[in-house]
Amino acid sequence: MTTAKPKVLATRHFPPDVEARLAANFEAVLNPGDRLYDGPALIAATAGCDAILCAAGDPLTADTIGGLPASVRMIATFSVGYEHVDVAAAAKRGIAVSNTPDVLTDATADITLLCLLGAARRAHEGAHMLRTRSWTGWTPTQLMGVHVTGKRLGILGMGRIGQAVADRARAFRMQIHYSNRNRLPPDLEKGAIFHADAEAMLPHCDFLSINAPMSAATRKWVNAERIAKLPQGAIVVNTARGGVVDDEALIDALRSGRLAAAGLDVFEGEPKIHPDYHDIPNAFLIPHMGSATVETRNAMGFKALDNLETYLLRNQTPPDLVKAS
Ligand code: 8YV
Repeated sequence: MTTAKPKVLATRHFPPDVEARLAANFEAVLNPGDRLYDGPALIAATAGCDAILCAAGDPLTADTIGGLPASVRMIATFSVGYEHVDVAAAAKRGIAVSNTPDVLTDATADITLLCLLGAARRAHEGAHMLRTRSWTGWTPTQLMGVHVTGKRLGILGMGRIGQAVADRARAFRMQIHYSNRNRLPPDLEKGAIFHADAEAMLPHCDFLSINAPMSAATRKWVNAERIAKLPQGAIVVNTARGGVVDDEALIDALRSGRLAAAGLDVFEGEPKIHPDYHDIPNAFLIPHMGSATVETRNAMGFKALDNLETYLLRNQTPPDLVKAS
């Protein structure tokens, strides 16, 4: 007699190798059209499911979780950030939640440097000039940007990704400042300057990189008052979550020249970004591509599967269990 495989709903169309392993080890409900589920549709689709493989942006709110069928025992998110999952509501229903830390650290740190350099060196304006066939030739004053090498970089949130950003920035001889809940030990700090008070770090930031998770404490943290504490002509980079930035305040500062530029990979309300961003030349914008490499997306999927298999097939604690804070 064969026992039925646990049934898992995949809310998105995941990379082929990830879906193949999901289908080999579970009864997989796939989403080849990558149709987005809203809360009620998610509840309906999980009928008879043991688990959900989801991604950032899926509405796993307290309401949705409250309506899930009793069969659902686990939510594995294909992301390191898990602000889209109400972990406390899941805990209340005895549903385990896991995420995918570590495997996207390097890809996200790489894209942070892309945003930092793209913003500082006016990459968008230069590329636009070529694409619109409007380059009439080199001039001594054309597209002069902001020097990166040797400048001061402030990192808000010195977890795995923040540390990987610092490692890369050291190759540009940048002086690293950081603010974090806890000071890092010397072997991880590597000479970076710790600021217990994040606001006190701001006057030292020629560049400010946001690498902190979305939470009540970081919501709209980069606001007009804090932008005013940055040096004139500073550059803001955000590869964490759009909600950490007050878009109106950032847009005003980019328009007035108070900030020289911004490099943004993430946006509040994405994919519907604040419409004014479209017309701001000194904003270097990319559409949430931090982890978008084949290697990283496969590794994220395999990590989510490791968690699902550990819990559902071997009845053990998933390695990346997320706890309600
Ligand atoms: C992911 C991310 O691609 O993992 C995260 O938290 O922000 C991204 O890089 C995305 O969230 C996939 O769910």
